[in-house]
Amino acid sequence: MRKKLIAGNWKMNLTRETSASLAGEVRRFALERKADREVLLAPPFPYLEAVRAAIEGSLVLLGAQDVSPHAPGAYTGEVSAEMLLDLGCARAIVGHSERRESGETDAIVRGKAKRAADLGLGIILCVGEREEERLRGEEKRVVERQLREALSGFSGRDAEEKLVVAYEPVWAIGTGRTATARDAEEMHRFARGVLAELFGEGAAHSIRILYGGSVKPSNAAELLAKDEIDGALVGGASLDAASFAEIISS
Ligand code: 13P
Repeated sequence: MRKKLIAGNWKMNLTRETSASLAGEVRRFALERKADREVLLAPPFPYLEAVRAAIEGSLVLLGAQDVSPHAPGAYTGEVSAEMLLDLGCARAIVGHSERRESGETDAIVRGKAKRAADLGLGIILCVGEREEERLRGEEKRVVERQLREALSGFSGRDAEEKLVVAYEPVWAIGTGRTATARDAEEMHRFARGVLAELFGEGAAHSIRILYGGSVKPSNAAELLAKDEIDGALVGGASLDAASFAEIISS
């Protein structure tokens, strides 16, 4: 059984103080939920430490929004997998569409994914088509390319132990438009088929595929009820404690 994972991607929001207080609230209701769901928070880099302190000793996991493909050294502004592990991060998001839009290529995403996995840091690999690609009927081709390119250096074991995939159609991010649960399920099934070709049926069956794109309390239950949807990567709604709590308990 794949345990559902609800991850909050705070993007470039909040302050040190509001990060810590939101993390504290998430910790409280995650406790009430016991252990049937995993919860992860991905604050901006400067607030990782404040959030780490707020969730310490709880089951809430710490995540980062990105990770460098490089080993520590002369890379101004970059944050290495070693540093994230040092801070207690369980996973880093890689290949988010907001980063791909500003020039992150499949090759860069591959470098980040591979180095994180090699160092023992889990990843949430984001894939998803743009609106014009969906209108041209290319959504599966795009997602297949993104998966194959990002994961070409992965062994089956890396994939089983370190990989979570997030299907985030770009047209659904921050727009209030969500893929229907049926459309999302179809894309998840397709992505799992690609993972099976890459790593075998057994591994593909164990890898979680999250849905992301305008997940909110009003649509979370329907999405999370689908067998193929193993959790959610939540942006805007994760910034509000009550909304995020409702999504976690959906
Ligand atoms: P929204 O939930 O704000 O649409 O963002 C989704 C997302 O990009 C999560 O990574």
